[in-house]
Amino acid sequence: MKQFEIVTPIYQYSSIDELPKEFADLCMKADMAARKAYAPYSKFRVGACVLLQNGETILGNNQENAAYPSGLCAERVALFYANANFPNEPVKAIAITAYQNGDQVALPISPCGSCRQVIAETQMRYNQKITLLLFAKDRIYLIPDANSLLPLSFSKNDLGE
Ligand code: THU
Repeated sequence: MKQFEIVTPIYQYSSIDELPKEFADLCMKADMAARKAYAPYSKFRVGACVLLQNGETILGNNQENAAYPSGLCAERVALFYANANFPNEPVKAIAITAYQNGDQVALPISPCGSCRQVIAETQMRYNQKITLLLFAKDRIYLIPDANSLLPLSFSKNDLGE
């Protein structure tokens, strides 16, 4: 028997002013996106902003539906738009934040399992690490490698590709 551990390196900041400007701007854009979310059922507004290699930024927010499972998370709205419209442009980073009862959440929210799978696919597609910025009022987490949020993920390697 052999035991091993998988670690998730996380850098914690107390303000976006401590981040490189490019990442601070991305967090502010995720904030803008969250305010425009369509979340009449959960009233939990999530915003995401994707930074591409060419400097382009793409906003996404959660889009809910009366048929609940038909809705989509902010992260996938942003990433699918990015991948659909800029298929040759690697994704460098994604910032995520959320609002509840009109206020930005105090502590970071992290992407759901399905979004982690899509982020992992995007990272593998471009063979370039994606930085996650989980932006909240009291704390920001910077995770430099999306794979560390989804260890042992299912990927094209498992399909023998
Ligand atoms: N949601 C996101 O958009 N991203 C996340 O990372 C977590 C959850 C959305 C889905 C749903 O519209 C609402 O937040 C409550 O779960």
